[in-house]
Amino acid sequence: MSIDFGADIYEEPIVTKSFLQEDAQEISLRPHTLQEYIGQEKAKNNLAVFIEAARRRTESLDHVLLHGPPGLGKTTLAGIIAQEMGVNIRITSGPAIEKPGDLAALLTNLSENDILFVDEIHRLNRSVEEILYPAMEDYVIDIIIGKGPSANSIRLDLPKFTLIGATTRAGSLSAPLRDRFGVTLRLELYTPEELKKIVTRSAGILNVPIEDSGAMEIARRSRGTPRIANRMLRRVRDFAQVKADGVITRQVADQALLALEVDDLGLDQIDRRMLRAIIDNYGGGPVGLETLAATIGEESVTLEDVYEPYLMQLGFLTRTPRGRCVTRKAYEHLHLDFNGQEQLTL
Ligand code: ADE
Repeated sequence: MSIDFGADIYEEPIVTKSFLQEDAQEISLRPHTLQEYIGQEKAKNNLAVFIEAARRRTESLDHVLLHGPPGLGKTTLAGIIAQEMGVNIRITSGPAIEKPGDLAALLTNLSENDILFVDEIHRLNRSVEEILYPAMEDYVIDIIIGKGPSANSIRLDLPKFTLIGATTRAGSLSAPLRDRFGVTLRLELYTPEELKKIVTRSAGILNVPIEDSGAMEIARRSRGTPRIANRMLRRVRDFAQVKADGVITRQVADQALLALEVDDLGLDQIDRRMLRAIIDNYGGGPVGLETLAATIGEESVTLEDVYEPYLMQLGFLTRTPRGRCVTRKAYEHLHLDFNGQEQLTL
């Protein structure tokens, strides 16, 4: 099996060098088999059946759509599917495929049963998406050659392949595209116990001594997300080495995370700014997402995809038809009374 992280995925200008470095480190911590993959039991059990069935029939796996908040392991799972099927995977992203010709080049270069992984598939443009329909359904593409009245369409046969699409927003996918996936799996935020196992596994790979209570502290504060847990682990390791004797204990993890302004439940500055803005400016809500985003100077998609899932899981935020509302629990966490006044803690 080969994994091709096609150069095109990294050509977006917003993707900086430091992001790439973190990403490369993240890749070294990724599990390679379903057995090693912790959590997502429902998705994993279903996938194991579909993979086994496709293997027995020596067929390509049906097209798979993975959706859920960022950082939960969609790319990792795609790599595992390729490994378990014993096929190659080619990795790209919706925005990187600009023209129908780009997609045609990707598809015609696949071998029988290969996987094409398209991250952020909801960002494919219309003209590219339309090429994808017959490719997914009948393994053919129609290419237009020439322009105007002399333009001609030729049909090319493709190898049988599996498309794995990943998206943070399944609702943004057009119905015709969504309907062409035979398997749809929703990834959920991880429990602290699952994250603890992931942190312990990663610490083993990185060769960092860690106590159980230290792993649990990181797990509890990484907002249900392995990518965040692994990043925190690296930062806490820095503190352990410089400020302690190298071992990650609960106390070291707590000190490091406090210094990084990650609070007891894993909320960072943006989470707190978001909650405070709703309380201070809109009486606790409801307030529309766009208004809220403008108030705190963040992109609305970032708030919706990255911040809200965890705040809603904690029961700090609700989405209502009239906008976002902060709950009593969030006031309590921020040590505010219901009028938004600071509560004195003695
Ligand atoms: N590293 C990142 N995500 C993981 C997962 N789900 N299982 C094991 N290790 C991981």
